[in-house]
Amino acid sequence: MTRREWLRRAAGTVVAAGLPALFGRRAGALAKRRHGNPDNITGRGSLASRAAARGMLAGAAVDTRLLRTDDTYRQVLAEQYNILVGENCMKFGATQPRPETYYFNDADGLVSFAESNGMKVRGHNFVWHEALPEWFAGTVTKENAEKILVDHIMTVGGRFKGRIHSWDVVNEAIWIPDGRPDGLRSSSPWFQMLGPDYIDFAYRTAREADPKALLTYNDYGIEYDNGEEAKKRAAVLDLLKRMKAAGTPIDALGVQSHLNAASTSGFGSGLRELLDGARSLGLQVFVTELDVKDDGLEVDDVAKRDEAVAGVYRDYLGRMLEGREVKAVLTWGVSDAHTWLNGAKWREKHPDREQRPLPFDDQYSPTPAFFALRESFDNAKRR
Ligand code: G3I
Repeated sequence: MTRREWLRRAAGTVVAAGLPALFGRRAGALAKRRHGNPDNITGRGSLASRAAARGMLAGAAVDTRLLRTDDTYRQVLAEQYNILVGENCMKFGATQPRPETYYFNDADGLVSFAESNGMKVRGHNFVWHEALPEWFAGTVTKENAEKILVDHIMTVGGRFKGRIHSWDVVNEAIWIPDGRPDGLRSSSPWFQMLGPDYIDFAYRTAREADPKALLTYNDYGIEYDNGEEAKKRAAVLDLLKRMKAAGTPIDALGVQSHLNAASTSGFGSGLRELLDGARSLGLQVFVTELDVKDDGLEVDDVAKRDEAVAGVYRDYLGRMLEGREVKAVLTWGVSDAHTWLNGAKWREKHPDREQRPLPFDDQYSPTPAFFALRESFDNAKRR
């Protein structure tokens, strides 16, 4: 169904035959009584509105090329979300393409679009072992790394000072395979130049650059109940504990949430441990990069794959939003047409089958994941 057909149907000019089937008649009638017409996905039916009704934020990662060129994309962003994050435009490589030159056109465009639509913005990210500019490897040394880090955070953080809801200050600093007892990613160039203290140092610098932004630690692979993720989860919690004990300014944990519809592991006590751990340290929690890949599923049928993906949204968010720790849920992209999961590598392997991990399909029509996400907000307690 194209978006135009969808909107026509939602407006009631076509007898709604498709979507209510997703709910079943009784559930559909109940949903209608509680929230108005479930076919209406804008206004009070939008993700932003349902999240706000529970004291939460609903958001998505933005591709700034589409923001400039695609009217429908802009319309969906403005209709659906109350927080945005740049998928790439605020990363080190994007904002500092040469040692002495900063580039802000894309990030400026994102922030002004968000502000003119009354939305908040997350900053992603200051310190990561990836997305570094080409000059980095040949220029950064143990002697100048601290100055380069400070200049970068003060310049980029300073540019948007007071306008950022939360900054991912350090991204993905834990990597168990590197073999350290504290789980730190010793293969990161930042670790190699500055040692383990680079983390606390980055947070102190970020607080100075933008005192109002909530300083967040962001990581992935800490969601499922299995041995590997349990180890990483414990290392993340230990890192956060050490930072708190050292008086390092940190306000939130970002749980990336790149999930897998074919996973044999579930969600349960591990997530509880993570949420309890964050709460006991006084940290807010954000679901920062939610999507569900379906490449491991043995079915080609689109409706079945969509239901499996939506089921993961439902299970995962059911657990994550059970308590009041999580204040924001952002998906990593908007439409299946532009997800990183369908990047060049994927297309080479599977030219005929695209992944469908996001709340909107490649025509910007809502997928079952959209409704699962929206229902998860509806089912959450007010915070
Ligand atoms: O913009 C250039 C373009 O000029 C060039 O022609 C093209 C050739 O490869 O590359 C383009 O840059 C790509 C960029 O995405 C924009 O599309 C980079 O190669 C590519 O590496 C980059 O990938 C991003 C990746 O992070 C690395 O920065 C993905 O879009 C982005 O979704 C992904 O996001 C990460 C989060 O930041 C952290 N958590 C995991 C998540 C998924 O990997």
